[in-house]
Amino acid sequence: MLRRVHVQNFRSLADLSLDLGPLTVLFGPNGAGKSSLLDTLWFLRDCAARGVEVASSERSHGIGLRWDGAEEGAPISVAVEAERARYEVRVALSAGRIDPFPGERLRSPGAGRGSDPAVHGEQPGLVLRGR
Ligand SMILES: Nc1ncnc2c1ncn2[C@@H]1O[C@H](COP(=O)(O)OP(=O)(O)OP(=O)(O)O)[C@@H](O)[C@H]1O
Ligand SMILES: [Mg+2]
Repeated sequence: MLRRVHVQNFRSLADLSLDLGPLTVLFGPNGAGKSSLLDTLWFLRDCAARGVEVASSERSHGIGLRWDGAEEGAPISVAVEAERARYEVRVALSAGRIDPFPGERLRSPGAGRGSDPAVHGEQPGLVLRGR
């Protein structure tokens, strides 16, 4: 189960940390950011399952995706935490489009304390590091 979500500079979400329960209900007026938050999870899922290039191409290559108030060069960051892992995708934009090379990290709490990282490895476009 997802315990927590962190979002920076994604659509209307400048900087959000949200604790999730077994059931989390989003409610608020039009434009409050409900769909933006749900799309962060879809974006993360697409990045993990199909890669950042596909995830961004399905979102107009990231055009308009970064929060309008973000500083020049600020990345978009989306992370989720479960009991035993944290997965984060941090993407930069180049000329308004998502750079295809992501800063992507999957971390397990047990990693780096004497035992092998629970999750590690590399493949094109994906870098997973234990820490
Ligand atoms: N890149 C961006 N920077 C800043 N604001 C943005 C950006 N992209 C979209 N928005 C704005 O974010 C707001 C939130 O939209 P969102 O669709 O998440 O709201 P919602 O709570 O789902 O609304 P509704 O109840 O109408 O479905 C909208 O006003 C939209 O114009
Ligand atoms: Mg909506």
